[in-house]
Amino acid sequence: MKKTLIVFAFVSVGFVLIQSCGTTKEVVENNPSSVCKSDINVTYAQIQPIIEAKCTRCHNASKKNSIGDFTSFQGLKPYLENGQFEKLVLIKKTMPKGGDDLSVEELGKIECWKANGYKN
Ligand code: HEC
Repeated sequence: MKKTLIVFAFVSVGFVLIQSCGTTKEVVENNPSSVCKSDINVTYAQIQPIIEAKCTRCHNASKKNSIGDFTSFQGLKPYLENGQFEKLVLIKKTMPKGGDDLSVEELGKIECWKANGYKN
Protein backbone atom coordinates (compact mmCIF):
# COMPACT_ATOMS: atom_id res chain seq x y z
CA MET A 1 0.00 0.00 0.00
CA LYS A 2 2.78 2.37 0.99
CA LYS A 3 4.63 1.61 -2.23
CA THR A 4 1.54 2.34 -4.29
CA LEU A 5 1.16 5.71 -2.56
CA ILE A 6 4.78 6.64 -3.26
CA VAL A 7 4.45 5.66 -6.91
CA PHE A 8 1.22 7.61 -7.10
CA ALA A 9 2.92 10.67 -5.56
CA PHE A 10 5.75 10.52 -8.10
CA VAL A 11 3.35 10.17 -10.99
CA SER A 12 1.30 13.12 -9.71
CA VAL A 13 4.34 15.36 -9.28
CA GLY A 14 5.58 14.34 -12.72
CA PHE A 15 2.21 15.09 -14.23
CA VAL A 16 2.07 18.52 -12.58
CA LEU A 17 5.60 19.31 -13.79
CA ILE A 18 4.79 18.32 -17.37
CA GLN A 19 1.61 20.37 -17.22
CA SER A 20 3.36 23.51 -15.97
CA CYS A 21 6.13 23.18 -18.56
CA GLY A 22 3.53 22.95 -21.28
CA THR A 23 1.78 26.08 -20.05
CA THR A 24 4.98 28.12 -19.88
CA LYS A 25 5.95 27.10 -23.39
CA GLU A 26 2.54 28.06 -24.70
CA VAL A 27 2.74 31.54 -23.17
CA VAL A 28 6.22 32.08 -24.56
CA GLU A 29 5.11 30.96 -28.02
CA ASN A 30 2.21 33.39 -28.00
CA ASN A 31 4.36 36.16 -26.59
CA PRO A 32 7.95 36.29 -27.85
CA SER A 33 8.70 39.55 -26.01
CA SER A 34 10.17 39.55 -22.52
CA VAL A 35 8.94 43.09 -21.99
CA CYS A 36 5.34 42.78 -23.12
CA LYS A 37 3.59 41.41 -20.06
CA SER A 38 0.12 40.93 -21.45
CA ASP A 39 -1.71 39.76 -24.53
CA ILE A 40 0.28 40.58 -27.64
CA ASN A 41 -2.76 40.98 -29.85
CA VAL A 42 -2.29 44.75 -29.91
CA THR A 43 -2.92 46.48 -33.22
CA TYR A 44 -2.61 50.06 -34.45
CA ALA A 45 -6.22 50.71 -33.38
CA GLN A 46 -5.15 50.54 -29.71
CA ILE A 47 -1.97 52.55 -30.29
CA GLN A 48 -3.46 55.32 -32.43
CA PRO A 49 -5.02 57.21 -29.45
CA ILE A 50 -1.62 57.21 -27.69
CA ILE A 51 0.16 58.55 -30.79
CA GLU A 52 -2.51 61.18 -31.24
CA ALA A 53 -2.31 62.32 -27.62
CA LYS A 54 1.47 62.27 -27.26
CA CYS A 55 3.08 62.64 -30.69
CA THR A 56 1.01 64.32 -33.38
CA ARG A 57 1.16 67.84 -31.96
CA CYS A 58 4.78 67.79 -33.24
CA HIS A 59 4.69 64.98 -35.79
CA ASN A 60 2.09 66.13 -38.28
CA ALA A 61 1.80 67.27 -41.86
CA SER A 62 1.55 70.96 -41.04
CA LYS A 63 5.15 71.09 -39.81
CA LYS A 64 7.81 71.81 -42.37
CA ASN A 65 10.58 70.21 -40.33
CA SER A 66 10.18 66.71 -41.87
CA ILE A 67 10.14 64.77 -38.62
CA GLY A 68 7.34 62.62 -39.96
CA ASP A 69 3.57 62.81 -40.05
CA PHE A 70 2.26 60.35 -37.47
CA THR A 71 -1.43 61.13 -38.01
CA SER A 72 -1.78 57.89 -40.01
CA PHE A 73 -0.33 54.40 -39.90
CA GLN A 74 1.21 54.99 -43.32
CA GLY A 75 3.03 58.06 -42.01
CA LEU A 76 4.38 56.20 -39.01
CA LYS A 77 5.32 53.04 -40.91
CA PRO A 78 8.76 54.17 -42.23
CA TYR A 79 9.87 54.84 -38.64
CA LEU A 80 8.63 51.46 -37.48
CA GLU A 81 10.56 49.82 -40.31
CA ASN A 82 13.83 51.73 -39.93
CA GLY A 83 13.93 51.09 -36.18
CA GLN A 84 13.84 54.76 -35.15
CA PHE A 85 10.48 54.38 -33.41
CA GLU A 86 11.76 51.50 -31.27
CA LYS A 87 15.07 53.22 -30.58
CA LEU A 88 13.67 56.58 -29.47
CA VAL A 89 10.45 55.46 -27.78
CA LEU A 90 11.30 52.08 -26.23
CA ILE A 91 15.07 52.04 -25.82
CA LYS A 92 16.39 55.58 -25.35
CA LYS A 93 12.97 56.92 -24.32
CA THR A 94 13.81 60.38 -25.69
CA MET A 95 10.42 60.49 -27.46
CA PRO A 96 7.94 61.91 -26.79
CA LYS A 97 9.68 65.10 -25.85
CA GLY A 98 8.29 68.34 -24.54
CA GLY A 99 7.15 66.94 -21.19
CA ASP A 100 4.66 64.37 -22.49
CA ASP A 101 6.10 61.17 -21.05
CA LEU A 102 4.42 57.88 -21.81
CA SER A 103 2.88 56.12 -18.83
CA VAL A 104 4.03 52.62 -17.86
CA GLU A 105 0.73 51.33 -19.21
CA GLU A 106 1.19 53.09 -22.54
CA LEU A 107 4.76 51.84 -22.87
CA GLY A 108 3.55 48.32 -22.08
CA LYS A 109 0.95 48.54 -24.82
CA ILE A 110 3.60 49.72 -27.29
CA GLU A 111 5.89 46.84 -26.25
CA CYS A 112 3.07 44.41 -26.98
CA TRP A 113 2.40 46.13 -30.30
CA LYS A 114 6.07 45.61 -31.19
CA ALA A 115 5.83 41.94 -30.17
CA ASN A 116 2.85 41.70 -32.53
CA GLY A 117 4.95 43.04 -35.43
CA TYR A 118 3.50 46.59 -35.25
CA LYS A 119 0.33 45.21 -36.80
CA ASN A 120 -2.00 47.71 -38.52
C1 HEC B 1 7.36 68.37 -28.48
C2 HEC B 1 7.46 67.85 -29.81
C3 HEC B 1 7.55 66.34 -30.01
C4 HEC B 1 6.73 65.36 -29.48
C5 HEC B 1 5.56 65.50 -28.53
C6 HEC B 1 7.21 64.10 -30.04
N1 HEC B 1 8.29 64.32 -30.88
FE1 HEC B 1 9.35 62.91 -31.92
N2 HEC B 1 10.57 64.34 -32.62
C7 HEC B 1 10.49 65.71 -32.36
C8 HEC B 1 11.59 66.40 -33.03
C9 HEC B 1 11.82 67.91 -32.98
C10 HEC B 1 12.36 65.42 -33.70
C11 HEC B 1 13.63 65.60 -34.53
C12 HEC B 1 14.84 65.08 -33.79
C13 HEC B 1 15.07 65.76 -32.47
O1 HEC B 1 15.05 67.00 -32.41
O2 HEC B 1 15.24 65.04 -31.49
C14 HEC B 1 11.68 64.15 -33.43
C15 HEC B 1 12.13 62.94 -33.92
C16 HEC B 1 11.46 61.74 -33.77
C17 HEC B 1 11.79 60.52 -34.45
C18 HEC B 1 12.96 60.33 -35.42
C19 HEC B 1 12.55 60.88 -36.77
C20 HEC B 1 13.63 60.71 -37.81
O3 HEC B 1 13.67 61.56 -38.71
O4 HEC B 1 14.39 59.74 -37.73
C21 HEC B 1 10.90 59.57 -34.06
C22 HEC B 1 10.83 58.12 -34.51
C23 HEC B 1 9.99 60.21 -33.13
N3 HEC B 1 10.36 61.51 -32.99
C24 HEC B 1 8.95 59.56 -32.50
C25 HEC B 1 8.05 60.19 -31.65
C26 HEC B 1 6.94 59.52 -31.03
C27 HEC B 1 6.56 58.07 -31.27
C28 HEC B 1 6.30 60.43 -30.25
C29 HEC B 1 5.12 60.21 -29.36
C30 HEC B 1 5.16 59.05 -28.48
C31 HEC B 1 7.02 61.69 -30.39
N4 HEC B 1 8.06 61.49 -31.25
C32 HEC B 1 6.64 62.87 -29.78
C33 HEC B 1 9.51 66.32 -31.60
C34 HEC B 1 8.52 65.68 -30.89
